[in-house]
Amino acid sequence: MTTDPAELVREIYLAGRDGRRPPLSTDLESLADAARDSMTSSAYGYVTGDAGSGATAAANREAFRRWRLVPRMLRDCRQRNLGVSLFGRRLPAPVLLAPIAAQTVAHPEGELASARAAAEVGVPFVLSTASSFPMEEVAREAGDIPHWFQLYWPSDRTVAESLLKRAEASGYTALVLTVDTPAFGYRPADLDNGYLPFLHEMGIANFITDPAFQAGLPPHAGPQDIIGHWARIFGNPSLTWEDLPWLRDHSSLPIMLKGILHPDDARRAVDCGADGIVVSNHGGRQLDGAIATLDALPAIREAIGNSVTVLLDSGVRTGADVVKALALGADAVLYGRPYMYGLALGGEAGVRHVLRCLLADVDLALALTGCATATSLTPDLLASADSRPAAAGRTAPPSR
Ligand code: FNR
Ligand code: LAC
Repeated sequence: MTTDPAELVREIYLAGRDGRRPPLSTDLESLADAARDSMTSSAYGYVTGDAGSGATAAANREAFRRWRLVPRMLRDCRQRNLGVSLFGRRLPAPVLLAPIAAQTVAHPEGELASARAAAEVGVPFVLSTASSFPMEEVAREAGDIPHWFQLYWPSDRTVAESLLKRAEASGYTALVLTVDTPAFGYRPADLDNGYLPFLHEMGIANFITDPAFQAGLPPHAGPQDIIGHWARIFGNPSLTWEDLPWLRDHSSLPIMLKGILHPDDARRAVDCGADGIVVSNHGGRQLDGAIATLDALPAIREAIGNSVTVLLDSGVRTGADVVKALALGADAVLYGRPYMYGLALGGEAGVRHVLRCLLADVDLALALTGCATATSLTPDLLASADSRPAAAGRTAPPSR
């Protein structure tokens, strides 16, 4: 991290003595409302939109609220360490930016601005296959900060292979294969707006620039040919577990499967050679009515043990949420929509602000929980709001 996470709070209070206020709110849950006027209504609908009735997105937040922290006192937390190790790399905090497609819907600098802000704050990012800028350009903004590539496995294997080669060649150090999207979910906001960014040529940069993709286009292809070809190969609903060895053979990078919610799928992922999983329901954008990720996490951690990397996303908003996810067995979290709101509100500076707020909040949540390190969080720090006993009785921290 470039600065101590607590520095933000000091800076804000000092500036306050001169009558200055932070340009954006520090309330990470209020950013969605604040960003409403910074995007077109279609773009806002795309970013905020959930599948169906919104039950899963609501369940994600509800699950975080249902678990209450039971802080411990007098445990010397003057020196805090938010760091965790993932795939042999030390990260300054247990947070990465979630892969979010087509970020130019929120700001013209899209992923370039997000990657720059991530690099400044020291938070790794995961780039979506469906980014608005080619992966090589985004990688250049990342500097020394680890960056991972999220794969939407196209149905054309030559394109898949080419994307994998490019990701490795441009310095991405892990692959995140998203498995919960055999099709986009039923999203009323987007359907009512008749809006999908890719059909407006946002989020297809990795395809347009790909030699294997280009080879599949007719001569003198125009925008309609390009979008048509993209639409034909982008989705791959016929993928099965049997396809995973192909991926293993075509990349030397660690592979995570994103979108796992069942313990048996988590076990199967590990059996197929995955190096980790992301417990995710895509922020409630895919299957309406799906289980909240925080509810799915303990059984998944239990099923695959402590030696496999487990990340969690969907509904993470505050420092306390991060602490709860780690206490229930996650090694780190992916942070999603809030940074898109920061991007819409202030480009690179907006994302930087959001990330600094989150890390300051995580740092304080650790201190106030009585834990000096992110790796020492255990389930016995949690109580269920409906007075059920604390999670699973596990008191040893998961290995990180
Ligand atoms: C996403 N997500 C996503 N996931 C992925 O694997 N590839 C992608 O391209 C995208 N694109 C995308 C676009 C938008 C606008 C959103 C909001 C989300 C899902 C993302 O990685 C993550 O799982 C969710 O954002 C987590 O939910 P919250 O915490 O953001 O609500
Ligand atoms: C989405 C896809 C691109 O959630 O992952 O919009």
